[in-house]
Amino acid sequence: MIRYEDVYQKFSAKLPKSNALLERADKVLVAFMTTGPYRAPANVAFVKRAQGSRVWDIDGNEYLDVTMGYGPLILGHAHPIAVEAAQQAVADGTTYAIAHEHEVHMAELMVDAIPCAERVLFCNSGTEANMYAIRIARATSGKDKVATFEMGWHGPHDYGLVGSMLSEGSGPPNAPTPSTDCRGIPERVLDESIKLSFDCEESLQRIRDLKDEIAVVVIEAMPSGYPINMQGFLEKLRAVTRECGVLLMMDEVITGFRCGYGGAQEKFGVVPDLAAFGKAMGGGMPVGAVVGTEEAMSSIVSSGDFMQDAMERKVVTIGTFSGNPVTMRAGAAVVEHLRDNPSIYTDMDRLTADVKDELNSFARDNELPFELLGENSWFVPYMAGKPFTHARDSHDENHVLRNIMLCNYLRFNGVYFPDMHVGFFSASHTASDGEFFVDTCKRTLLDMRAQKLL
Ligand SMILES: Cc1ncc(COP(=O)(O)O)c(C=O)c1O
Repeated sequence: MIRYEDVYQKFSAKLPKSNALLERADKVLVAFMTTGPYRAPANVAFVKRAQGSRVWDIDGNEYLDVTMGYGPLILGHAHPIAVEAAQQAVADGTTYAIAHEHEVHMAELMVDAIPCAERVLFCNSGTEANMYAIRIARATSGKDKVATFEMGWHGPHDYGLVGSMLSEGSGPPNAPTPSTDCRGIPERVLDESIKLSFDCEESLQRIRDLKDEIAVVVIEAMPSGYPINMQGFLEKLRAVTRECGVLLMMDEVITGFRCGYGGAQEKFGVVPDLAAFGKAMGGGMPVGAVVGTEEAMSSIVSSGDFMQDAMERKVVTIGTFSGNPVTMRAGAAVVEHLRDNPSIYTDMDRLTADVKDELNSFARDNELPFELLGENSWFVPYMAGKPFTHARDSHDENHVLRNIMLCNYLRFNGVYFPDMHVGFFSASHTASDGEFFVDTCKRTLLDMRAQKLL
């Protein structure tokens, strides 16, 4: 058994090159990584390369990776299909800002795959996709207010950072009030924001009451922070938004091409008016897309005449790299592979279900405060020591502290799990990767309990 207080030091001894790089990073970067803040105290291992289900750091340590780039790498790191398509694309020129076939082809693939998709707009991230989808919804509906669910994540644009975290201003659980999540967001944004609570009847009544003001209701069909199935609520939400004439936008940045080829809308049989995509559709390249019905997208679909569009004040979303050929070709290669090999989904889902069953019965048998929440191929260790019943449980103090400790411990033991985040399996994760993951989690949990950390 290795004591937790020794983990930091022993791990640090395995990271001499990373530690030196960290000193340089500390002087110039705002955070250890550009992708997000890491909660100290944690060792930082800088990655040198990644392949399949593994990453290696610059000191030569190997990890089984379940970070998977926060989700885009659905086939695994550096999968030959994505690499080859990207390499060929790079050789033909990385970006044109001139029309090319690959953007059309990728849009056709999305229209074929996604139930609500009749029109497609490409951009460069899930954040942009959400931001643009909200603008399109406002323009189409002629209304301004944006309703989102508290503790949901739609990227760090101004409306995304209203009530995505729990704060003093969050109000009662079933009637949350909007509050900004960090400095730099004008308080005026709150005037146009409505916060709803997941899986809750009051939210539906709120939509009915405010239907003349709400431009769009935005929901993650499975919340990214705690993947749970809310099929019944989604069905009710679709019925109420339709009855009220309010647009429904699904944030499918994680669920798209991961819950299945047609995303969450196909899985749940709930078809929104608009949806934001990103991550898995890009073959590991930066990507975002807004898709929607002809009607919902009418405020952006061009008449083909520049002057006419300007007169009608069509929505503007131009981007230098949007729809670039490298992303389009790598993305299309991966999406076609997913389309032609549906067993990828059944295999990833089965691996996740097996790991979940094994770890959850181990935790029950040993009375450990641990539950792996998850659906399809993504999961999160929930460690509050009580059943998960409300979105706010994802910020439970015990859960947060234990989760950070567990993830640091797991990294030391050779599994890279990002703390306070979900983990993902990919098509590259094998049954033996699953066994290694389970064994490492079990050993780590028992070590933590022996030290009264659980
Ligand atoms: C559900 C959801 N929406 C939007 C985003 C933002 O996407 P990106 O990080 O590509 O900007 C994320 C990112 O994790 C996400 O999980």
